[in-house]
Amino acid sequence: MLTAINLCKRVATTENELEILQDISFELEVGRSLAILGESGSGKTTLLGILAGLDTPTSGQVVLNGKSIFELSEEQRAQLRKENLGFVFQSFQLIEGLTALENVMMPLELKRDKKAREKSMEILSKVGLEKRMNHYTNQLSGGEQQRVAIARAFVSEPRLLLADEPTGNLDTETGQKIIDLMFKLNSTLKTTLVLVTHDIHLAAKCDEALMLSGGQIVERRTGGDVVIDEQARTEQSVDEPGVDIPSVKERRSSVEGIIND
Ligand SMILES: Nc1ncnc2c1ncn2[C@@H]1O[C@H](COP(=O)(O)OP(=O)(O)OP(=O)(O)O)[C@@H](O)[C@H]1O
Ligand SMILES: [Mg+2]
Repeated sequence: MLTAINLCKRVATTENELEILQDISFELEVGRSLAILGESGSGKTTLLGILAGLDTPTSGQVVLNGKSIFELSEEQRAQLRKENLGFVFQSFQLIEGLTALENVMMPLELKRDKKAREKSMEILSKVGLEKRMNHYTNQLSGGEQQRVAIARAFVSEPRLLLADEPTGNLDTETGQKIIDLMFKLNSTLKTTLVLVTHDIHLAAKCDEALMLSGGQIVERRTGGDVVIDEQARTEQSVDEPGVDIPSVKERRSSVEGIIND
């Protein structure tokens, strides 16, 4: 189970204090999949980083498998991540100077897995990179780097996979292959998935969806029920009159699109 409790994130800028996340709470059962949607700058990447314990909230908690992760030491949190978590960064974060294969082997080598090479080669083949294993990261296209990042997150068969726009740089066919792989992991290993995406086809495959706007949850779908947080939406429009917020009707139809797709 992954639980977010009243997460807030404030940062100081040169002009003022910026509230990137405001009072984010949700629960996700083991083996479920959650899509996080929302316009650019709405706080999706920040939220994902906090859920992974890579970033810290100003207030609030994240509970993973019964452990409140911000009450752990830095070291314990790193250990928890190593054992349970796969993370696909929006900017890939591959290690330069290592090949595709070496990048994917890294998390297994950290766990001293003797089959690191074999398992990494297998997963790289699954993402269609069997001919690119020995290329250095700067010799790979954006979509190829994304697939290496995905392979690296999958290779240790994590219990929780957090992925930031995992299909953002891929063509439809390759994207579909990656989506299928993620959901196979989800169904065979009961991996919990949290996916930030603009892709409504991917969102439609998820059990649940959250829509963020201005750092708040404005809509949520659990099972087939859509809940629209009118209060968050109204506060948002008062706070930031310049921000173009889709009308409830527009957003309702976009969520209906997600459900019916
Ligand atoms: N360290 C920081 N200092 C100041 N502002 C920040 C910081 N990190 C993020 N922000 C701001 O917080 C907001 C949310 O950023 P975030 O990266 O979470 O958005 P996002 O929803 O992932 O957007 P995108 O879809 O473009 O990736 C943005 O407006 C961003 O400029
Ligand atoms: Mg982002």
